[in-house]
Amino acid sequence: MKIAFFDSGMGGLSVLHHALKILPQEEFIFYADEDNVPYGTKSREEVLKFVDEAFKFLIAQGVGAIVVACNTATSAAVKKMREKYSLPIIGMEPALKVALDLFPARKVLVTATAITITGEKIRLLIEKLHAENFVELKALPRLVEFAERQEFNSAAVESYLRGELADYDFEKFSSLVLGCTHFNYFKDTLRKILPSHVKILDGNAGTVNELIRRVKGIRSQVSGVREIKFFYSKRRVTDSAELARLEKFLRRLDEMEAVT
Ligand code: DGL
Repeated sequence: MKIAFFDSGMGGLSVLHHALKILPQEEFIFYADEDNVPYGTKSREEVLKFVDEAFKFLIAQGVGAIVVACNTATSAAVKKMREKYSLPIIGMEPALKVALDLFPARKVLVTATAITITGEKIRLLIEKLHAENFVELKALPRLVEFAERQEFNSAAVESYLRGELADYDFEKFSSLVLGCTHFNYFKDTLRKILPSHVKILDGNAGTVNELIRRVKGIRSQVSGVREIKFFYSKRRVTDSAELARLEKFLRRLDEMEAVT
């Protein structure tokens, strides 16, 4: 089956990277809306329009399921896409439940884009988990820009993150949740800044597990040849410089896997 992974940009590769490890035989399409990234600082209506365009394109490619590997697009558009299309649509959810299950009485800092942290979806999740007193939300929009230009661990990244996180008393926190798929590229700098007891959690495993649950007959745990087609906003990526850029993101994700 052809499975699409969709994101505003390169963050979604972190979810695909995880899927490649456990679903090696499937055929994947990775679609990054590079013409319109970032989504997180735009209006929800604009994001909805971009997502709908991408969905039309992906469905025309014959995909059997779409993973919205973007918390922002999930927040702004997944509900509408599920009303409109009948194929399985798997969204992202910040790993707040995982954090609270592991450390019930400690606070969690959920980092994400502005759209995600001001959205109804996160509000409903917090309500459902009765976590109002245990969650703080923080937008880190510049990480999306840094990621897109492959500036992963510069002095500027470190000083941005130190500045944004300076006011939190991390003694009260068990974990920091990466509620934006682009943030996976910065785990090493975050690890350097955060006290060692603060866990860094992402939603990638949860999303891929949900994909396996939703799509019947998915071939997990089998080794085989895989095919991945990459698209930037409907344009197939075949240029060797662009493919090398994608490869660099995937290598970075290999490195970040070791950071917990
Ligand atoms: N990667 C996206 C997410 O998970 C958002 C990045 C953007 O602002 O476009 O939220």
